[in-house]
Parts: sequence; structure tokens; C-alpha cells
Amino acid sequence: MKSLLEVFFTSLGGAVVVYYGVKLLLVTKMLYPKMWFPLPKSFFSSMGEWAVVTGASEGIGREYAFALAEQGMNVVIMSRTKATLEQLAKEIGEATSRTVKVLVADFTEDKVFGDIEEQLKDLNIGVLVNNVGMLPSNVPKRFLEDTDLDQMCKTLLPGMENRGKGVIINVSSGIACIPFPMYSLYAASKIFVERFSQGLQAEYKEKGMLIQAVTPFGVSTRMIGYQATDMVTLSPRDFVKSSLQYLRAGDRTYGSICHMFLGWLIRSTPRKILYADSVLNGLQEYVEKKQAKTRSISTLSVA
Ligand SMILES: NC(=O)c1ccc[n+]([C@@H]2O[C@H](COP(=O)([O-])OP(=O)(O)OC[C@H]3O[C@@H](n4cnc5c(N)ncnc54)[C@H](OP(=O)(O)O)[C@@H]3O)[C@@H](O)[C@H]2O)c1
Repeated sequence: MKSLLEVFFTSLGGAVVVYYGVKLLLVTKMLYPKMWFPLPKSFFSSMGEWAVVTGASEGIGREYAFALAEQGMNVVIMSRTKATLEQLAKEIGEATSRTVKVLVADFTEDKVFGDIEEQLKDLNIGVLVNNVGMLPSNVPKRFLEDTDLDQMCKTLLPGMENRGKGVIINVSSGIACIPFPMYSLYAASKIFVERFSQGLQAEYKEKGMLIQAVTPFGVSTRMIGYQATDMVTLSPRDFVKSSLQYLRAGDRTYGSICHMFLGWLIRSTPRKILYADSVLNGLQEYVEKKQAKTRSISTLSVA
């Protein structure tokens, strides 16, 4: 009897050590993405000549466009504002000598995809970054959307499938890791992006496609009122640089180690605590204060 108990507890102890050992190994992998998920220098350009980035005139999209041009790709940049796109095209062209095509498009308009298809039909497109997205309010609110990223995939997937290679990055959000009050509609639309992207990866993996959902938390862009960067709010450049290192880390990535820990923390906190009114009000106040602070710093630096 005693030996049976001993075997039971030894096995239990062994299982716990193996369980946490594997978890530790997984965390270590995320700490050293370059070592565990190396990308050859010519990886992106080997996918095709062109990369397409939606919502590219500023923020995260702008940095993806720059990073992909730096990797040797020509880029198509899209958003609603021609002047900003043309300025960016000039900057990318001067910095990387790559060709940049500007495409003015508003993804809230129904007919936009016919135009896009026509403009892209002769290009050898290897990478798509489905980045465009809108946050209804940059301060959390008690109710509150997304773009037709599925349509962009429908437009570009057939060409990639024929060539048997291609990369699609679908930008979701970390707050989709749980049903997120105060960002309810946004978080729900982003979980659609994530599940859609993961399903698509499973469908097209065998065809040589790499499709990944990228789920950041705070990145200092217009969308979040250019909040000051810190441990958890990253600059768009730092975030994109980091996220591309995780391109081979699976069908979904937080894109940075700090956002991975934040996601883990949120998922481990009991919902009863997270959803308490005091916590929701605290979140609202925290974001409002952070944005007010950012506004006062920018007013001071202009003055
Ligand atoms: N910033 C964050 O903290 C954060 C966190 C998680 C996830 N995300 C996600 O990351 C993606 C990029 O966000 P961001 O923070 O970089 O936003 P951003 O700085 O506000 O940039 C949004 C980009 O999309 C374009 N855009 C907006 N509405 C458009 C429309 N209807 N049609 C075409 N282009 C449009 C904007 O240019 P125009 O206004 O000139 O059209 C701009 O280039 C979004 O999907 C967002 O949900 C951001």
C-alpha cells in the first residue's frame, strides 16, 4: 500500500515537473525568437515581388510597409489619405530604393474591392498585411466594428495559392484574449479576425501559405491617442520589428514578450475581479489620465 502511494506521488511529482518544464521551455522560446524562429534574409522577397499593406499611412501599418521594403519588397500602401500616402511612399523609396505604389481606398465603402482588384491584378504579391482597423473611441466606453479583411484575402489568396507560397498577417488585438468589457464590440470584431486567420492557416498550410494573427495590446498610434511609450505601450516601430521575429511562432502571436505576459496576466485573473465595476471604472480613468498626460506633454513641446 505504502509503495503504491509512493509510486502515485512520485508520478504526480514527475508529471508536475514535466508540465512546468515544458511551459518554461515555451516561454524561453518566446524570449529568443531569432534563435527559435529564424527567418532567412531573403524570406519575404522569396514570397513574391510585392507586399500589400492596408491602413498603411501611419501607425502599425506604416511600420510594416517600411519593414517589408527594408526586406527587399516593393510595397503597395493603402489608406484614405492620398497626401500622407504619397509622403510615406517618398520616404520609403528614398530610404530603401524600393518601388512604392499608392492606392487610395476607404474600406468602409462597398465598391472598394473591385478597384483594388483591378489595381493589383498584374502584381506578383507575396505578402499581405491586413492591418486596417478602427477603434470607435480611444477611451474605453460601456458599449460600443471591422473591415472586410476576408475580402482582401479573397482578392490575394488565389495568386498566392497558384504560386504555392505567400504570407498573410492579420492584425487583431490582445484585448480579444477575453470578452473585454468597455471595448466589447471592438474586442468581438477582433476575435473574428483571430479565428478567421487561424482557420485560414489550417486550410492553406499545406499549400505553402503562412497566415498569422498578430494580437498586440498598446502601441502608441493615433488609434490610442499617441499614448506615451512604456513597458507595455510600444512604439509602432519597436512593435513591428518584434512581431516579425515571431512570424514562424504559430498561427497567433502577441508579437512581443511584454504583450505575451500581459495577455497571460489578463487570462489568469478571475473574471469576477476583472469585470468588477471598480476595475472597469479604474481602467477608464487610467486611459483617460494617460491620454491627458500625453496631450499636455505634446502641448508643452509645441509651446
Ligand atoms: N494601436 C494599438 O494600441 C493597437 C492595439 C491592438 C491592435 N491594434 C490594431 O492595429 C491595426 C492598426 O492600428 P493603428 O494603431 O496603427 O491605427 P492608426 O494609427 O489609427 O492607423 C490606422 C491606419 O488605417 C487607415 N484607415 C483608417 N480607416 C480606414 C478606412 N476606412 N479605409 C482605409 N484606411 C483606413 C488610416 O489612414 P487614413 O485615416 O488616412 O485612412 C491609418 O493609416 C488596427 O487593426 C488596430 O485595431 C492597434
